Amino acid sequence: ANKPTLAPSPFVVPTDLPALPEVAGTDPTRCVLDSFRIAIAKVVADALEPLTVEQVYQGVDYGKKGEDFTVALPRFKLPGKIDELAKKVIGKFQPDEWVESVTHDRAFLHFRCRTSTLMRLTLDQIHALTYDTVSKQPEYGSNFLGEGKRVIIEYSSPNIAKSFHVGHLRSTIIGAFLANLYKACGWEVISMNYLGDWGTQFGLIAVGFEKYGNQEALEKDAIQHLFEVYVKISAEAEKDPAVRDEAAAWFRRMEDGDEEALKNWRVWRKLSVGKYAEEYARLNVHFDVYTGESEVPQAAMDAALGRLRELALIEEDNGALRVNLEKHKLGKAVVRKRDGTSIYLTRDIGGAVNRYDQYKFDKMIYVISAQQDMHVAQFFKVLELMGYEWAKSLEHVNYGLVLGMSTRRGTVVFLDQIIREASTVMHDQMRKNEEKYNAVENPEFVATEIGITGVKIQDMAAKRINNYSFNWDRMLSFEGDTGPYLQYAHVRLSSIERKNPELLPLPAPSQLNTDLLVEPQTREIIFLLGSYPDVVKTALKTHEPSGIVTFAFRLSHGISSAWETVIVKGEQDKEKAKARMALYLAARDVLGAALRLLSIKPLERM
Ligand code: ARG
Repeated sequence: ANKPTLAPSPFVVPTDLPALPEVAGTDPTRCVLDSFRIAIAKVVADALEPLTVEQVYQGVDYGKKGEDFTVALPRFKLPGKIDELAKKVIGKFQPDEWVESVTHDRAFLHFRCRTSTLMRLTLDQIHALTYDTVSKQPEYGSNFLGEGKRVIIEYSSPNIAKSFHVGHLRSTIIGAFLANLYKACGWEVISMNYLGDWGTQFGLIAVGFEKYGNQEALEKDAIQHLFEVYVKISAEAEKDPAVRDEAAAWFRRMEDGDEEALKNWRVWRKLSVGKYAEEYARLNVHFDVYTGESEVPQAAMDAALGRLRELALIEEDNGALRVNLEKHKLGKAVVRKRDGTSIYLTRDIGGAVNRYDQYKFDKMIYVISAQQDMHVAQFFKVLELMGYEWAKSLEHVNYGLVLGMSTRRGTVVFLDQIIREASTVMHDQMRKNEEKYNAVENPEFVATEIGITGVKIQDMAAKRINNYSFNWDRMLSFEGDTGPYLQYAHVRLSSIERKNPELLPLPAPSQLNTDLLVEPQTREIIFLLGSYPDVVKTALKTHEPSGIVTFAFRLSHGISSAWETVIVKGEQDKEKAKARMALYLAARDVLGAALRLLSIKPLERM
């Protein structure tokens, strides 16, 4: 579906710099800091034979504040005193265009990159990978780690006719991020939405629809209408066992493929998917495949149950079938009900087998709330016990709870309520500053985009597993570490070109005198910009969007502290003004890339 096009980077490391050896797993054409790390590794390896550049490279870490990179000598387990080893490195060190200096502090060697090289190469690389790529897309931060591999990422997966709760919102936000992240790392990504579109409740809704259904209301908003029907009939079923029996009988007919019983359900499903797709688009989220519990083939589930029986993992319980996972500390779980109808767990087992047959994925990720940790562990374990080699490549990306989300009208049950509330709260917020508000060209649009950014950033700001409380005021404020603050930072950077037309067109960074960027703030910004490709790689390992969010805040703060002193407008030295402008534009491009990775559309104006 989304086969990444692999093309070489338009950036080449200039040949006027000292030549460096190649190190497997690095790509200096896409990550300038790789070059500096190799240069540092070479300094150490040359002084401390028999260490190789490759070995040292693994130990070149980011330094603490003020240091670019640090090497902890004890990790190499060399004979001799650490102090002597350090002195050997320092004694042999010759500053060059890559490494400016090295200092020694106990077991650590601290290295500083040559600022002029860092400035020139980083700006040049960002520019080339933003504007000169073969794909015509910005690629700075991307890599080819997943070259030739396919991942299915299942996320969002709401239940038709039930409420879209915040758990689904988190799955949507985190899942969309992961899909972007894997694409940026060269994977072929299949975004999959596995709808809760099957189960006894659909028998119930069918019964309810005969009583309370209304075609017009259904067509107007299927999700809302079905939910209303469901709420009414559920209340009845609570009291009246006859309703429950009727519902069960109906679902039985659905499972048996009775077209009459399925007719309405098909319409509901289609209308619901249509409505969801619109709302996802509003959130900048897209699925390649809408599937659902209803689409798990009966044969796949029967085969799975047969296999479990052969493995003697199945036991009968009052007519129902259970899989016994006590040996694995995962309890016992029902896999088939007494009336023979299927169940959530069994559908996940059959569904995974079916997906493997269909897609031959190299990895499959499920983005599901930590409340379902047990459920997921159970079906992963069952698949492993069934002997599927690929069961090892299943991953559960889980997340904590969201507390207290409501709108001013009460509890939230639908996705469009969340979007609307974010938009109106933001709109009110913007109106508080009348002067600014009047200058906004398209306030409705801007309010919605910033509102959605606020929701997303609040959701992704901390480690996934943490719970957090939903707070409209906090998340939509322009102060503090919020989504609006990031959008504001991007808008401000975008305004630089508009405010300094006399400096345009700006020559490519390689044609500018970047040695004029001498302020400590500019160095801090450039180093952060250079680190972005590493930040992306780390996120791929941890599956934590917070790493990207933190990066975006650090960059925005760095820019804020440069803004007043490292000026463009009013700078008399035009060469200096241009170099500064190039730095700010690079910052805009990288901040924009980080926001897009988080599924956020960076704004140019507000
Ligand atoms: N529809 C389910 C729910 O709302 C989530 C589905 C998660 N995915 C899965 N393969 N079980 O709870």
